[in-house]
Amino acid sequence: MRKLVTGAMATALALVTTTPAAIAAAPTMPVNAASAKDDWWKSAVIYELYPRSFADSNNDGIGDLKGVSQHLDYLADLGVDAIWMTPMFPSPQADFGYDVADYDDVDPQFGTVADADQLIAAGKQKGIKLILDFVINHTSDKHPWFVQSRANRTNPYRDFYIWRDGKADGTPPNNWSSIFGGPAWDKDPVTGQYYYHFFYPQQPDLNWRNPKVEKAMFDAAEWWLKRGVYGYRLDAVGTMFEREDLKDNPLTSGKDAFGLAEQNRIYNTELPEVHIELQRLRQQVIDRYPGRILIGETYVGTSAELTKFYGARNDEVQLPMFLSLIGIRPLTADQLRPRIEAVENNPVGGWPCFALNNHDQRRVPSRYVLPAGTTGDDMARITAALLLTLRGTPILYYGEELGMQNNDPKRVEDVQDIIGKKGWPNEKGRDGERTPMQWDASVNAGFNSGAKPWLPVGPDYATRNVTAERKDSNSVLNFYRSLIAERRSNPALAGDMMMVDRGNSNVLSYVRTGGGKRVLTVLNFSGNPADLTLAQLGGGKPGRVIAKNRADLNAAGVHLAPLGLLVVELS
Ligand code: NOJ
Ligand code: CA
Repeated sequence: MRKLVTGAMATALALVTTTPAAIAAAPTMPVNAASAKDDWWKSAVIYELYPRSFADSNNDGIGDLKGVSQHLDYLADLGVDAIWMTPMFPSPQADFGYDVADYDDVDPQFGTVADADQLIAAGKQKGIKLILDFVINHTSDKHPWFVQSRANRTNPYRDFYIWRDGKADGTPPNNWSSIFGGPAWDKDPVTGQYYYHFFYPQQPDLNWRNPKVEKAMFDAAEWWLKRGVYGYRLDAVGTMFEREDLKDNPLTSGKDAFGLAEQNRIYNTELPEVHIELQRLRQQVIDRYPGRILIGETYVGTSAELTKFYGARNDEVQLPMFLSLIGIRPLTADQLRPRIEAVENNPVGGWPCFALNNHDQRRVPSRYVLPAGTTGDDMARITAALLLTLRGTPILYYGEELGMQNNDPKRVEDVQDIIGKKGWPNEKGRDGERTPMQWDASVNAGFNSGAKPWLPVGPDYATRNVTAERKDSNSVLNFYRSLIAERRSNPALAGDMMMVDRGNSNVLSYVRTGGGKRVLTVLNFSGNPADLTLAQLGGGKPGRVIAKNRADLNAAGVHLAPLGLLVVELS
C-alpha cells in the first residue's frame, strides 16, 4: 500500500455523528446500480429475513410473504440489494421450515407461489433480488420421498435416504450423535432399519451418493431459478456426505447440551465429496442462469477450511460465510485480525463474506459481556462499522439494524424451538433471536394488528422500532443507513484493504483504498480507553468523519472510549 502522508492535524476537527441531514445528503444511487453485472453480489448488502417474524399481513400471528412485499420500500431505503429468505416451503415446521416437505411450493401459512412471484416482481422494480434457502442435506420426514422410502425396503425411494441395520445387540449402527440431541439414528418400526438424521429425527438426511437424489434436488433448485430467484443460501452444506463405512467419531471429554458425550464429527461432516457435488451444482444449475449465486452456511474454524468452499478454481460457492467470527469470546482485536486477514488473503482469491447475526445465534447486543459504561447499542455500532467497512459482502439479519436484542423465553413451557425444549435450561433454543420485527410503537410493534405473535415482541419495542429510530439521528438504524449509503458511494469502500497498527491487541484498524480515496476504520473492542497517534494508524490527514461513536479526533490523534469507533476519510 502507498505510504500514507503524515500530516499535522489542523484544528480539531468538528466531529459529528450521523445526522438526518448527512443521510439526506448521502448520494442517492439507484439501489440496483450493480445489478446489470454478473458480480453484483460483490458490492451488495444482503439482508437475511426470517419470514415467520418479519411482518404478518393477515394477522394470524405468523409473518408471511405479503408482509415482506409490503415492506420492500423500507429495505430499499436501508440500502439492501438482496434478501436471503429462510425457508417458506411447505413444512410441518418441526424446525420452522428447515424440514421441507415440498421444494416446489409455498407453505399456506406464508402464502402462495403467486405471492412469491409477486415478491420477486416487486423486488425487481425496487432493485432487491430474492435469494432462497436451499435445505440440501435433509428433507422433512413428511416429504413424499421419505414417506415412500420408509414404506418398505424395496421401494424405489428407499435409497433416497440413509438406511442401515442396527448392531447385533439392536443398538444404532454407530456412535454418531445428532447435533440437536440424542443419537443420529432412529429405528423405524415399519422395516426395522435405522435411518440417519444429523438434525432432528423429523429431518432425515438425503443420500447424495444416489444420482437420483442429485437429479431431484437439482430440479428443485432450478424450479425457483426459473421463477426469477437469484440463488440460494445452502443450509448446513458441510453435512451433505458421511463416510459410507460409518466409522465411529472420536469422542471428546465433554458432554453436549443434551447430556451425550461430545464428539469430533470428522466422519460425517466436511467430507471431500461435498466439494465435488458443489462443483456439479454450480456447473449444472447455477451457472446456467447469469448472476445467480450460492451463499454457504459454512461454520468452519479456519480460513483454510473456508477456502475449500470457494473451490480450487472458484467454482463452488461464491459467498461462503465466514461464520467463525461469531464464536469469538471475548470479541477482541487480536482474535479478529488474523482471521480477517486470512480470509481477505485466501489463496484462491475468493470474495469474503461476513455475517455476525443470524437466526441461530444470540443477537450481538445480547451476546457479549459489555464493558462497564457501554450498552448493547454501542456493541451494535462497533460490529456494524466492522461489517460495513470490511472488504467483502456483509449479510445483515432483520432487526440487527435496530440494535434488536434477544428476548429469551423465561419458562420452558413458553419455548417454541424444540432444541430449547429438549435442552432446557442448558440450551434454551433460538426463540430469543427470532422475535417479531419491531416496526413501530403500536400493538405488537406493528408486526400485525393484534393477534398473538408466534413469539413475544421484545420488551423495548416502544422505543426500539423503525419509526422511532428513523427520527433519531443517533439511532442504530441511522448509523446503519448512513454507513450503507457510504459503502455504495465511496470507492475506497469498494477497494483494497490493509490492516494498520497490527500489533495492537485492543484496537482493530485498517485502511480501505480505491478510486483515489482512502478511508480509515478504528475499532476499540476492549473495555479500556485507547489513544492512538495518527502515525500509529499509518499516517494520513483525517478529513470528513463518516461515522463515530465514543471517539474523538484531536491534534494528538484518536481517543476511543471502550467500544469506541471512528470511520474517517483520509486526505
Ligand atoms: C441451519 C439452520 O440455520 C438452522 O436454523 C437449522 O435448524 C439447521 N440448519 C437444520 O436445517
Ligand atoms: Ca400471517
